[in-house]
Amino acid sequence: MPGITIGDSLPNLQVDTTHGKINLHDYVGDSFTIIFSHPGDFTPVCTTELGMMAAYADKFAERGVKLLGLSCDDVASHKEWIKDIEAYNKGKKVTYPIAADPTRDIIKQLNMVDPDEKDDAGHNLPSRALHIVGPDKKIKLSFLYPSSTGRNMDEVVRALDSLLKASKHKIATPANWKEGEAVVIAPSVSNDEAKKLFPNGFKTADLPSKKEYLRFTNV
Ligand code: BEZ
Repeated sequence: MPGITIGDSLPNLQVDTTHGKINLHDYVGDSFTIIFSHPGDFTPVCTTELGMMAAYADKFAERGVKLLGLSCDDVASHKEWIKDIEAYNKGKKVTYPIAADPTRDIIKQLNMVDPDEKDDAGHNLPSRALHIVGPDKKIKLSFLYPSSTGRNMDEVVRALDSLLKASKHKIATPANWKEGEAVVIAPSVSNDEAKKLFPNGFKTADLPSKKEYLRFTNV
């Protein structure tokens, strides 16, 4: 599907939200920001996802990360729906704004349209898309799930921790990595540079090719 993807700039849209009008670039400011869309208000999986985001809000705040939800209904509908989300999720408050998109213009610009899901009037609904935007207003990571599959917020936190670490060090994180585990040194870093950049040292995997590209360190 055409539209923004990793490396692209977030369009600087004005959006209507449950916290009033927001200018996307002003909202991101100097923070990493997670923008996540949902097919519609008063739908079952979305109610669990928005509640889970509310339950994880402290984890994102600890990391200095902002949240912005989006569903294509209007703000009045979102405000009614929040009562259900909070009740279902044992009173956990939805403290982040939820953007409205009744004309579907925002979901088109943010590449959040699900071509297979339409409302009763035949209008496209949003997919379960999630963009993590950096302080430079560029998309750093995107998830795209169909309406049938609710997202795992532990995976959002895990991916975010990887992004935050890779934004500070010349590293990448291996498969199934979790915060606290060893990371790999970026291929662009020579062994001589790695000795300077990683004072804790690093271990190189002994591979049949004898190429020294898989180097683990702790940062
Ligand atoms: C849901 O949130 O449960 C949902 C929304 C749209 C289509 C299917 C499921």
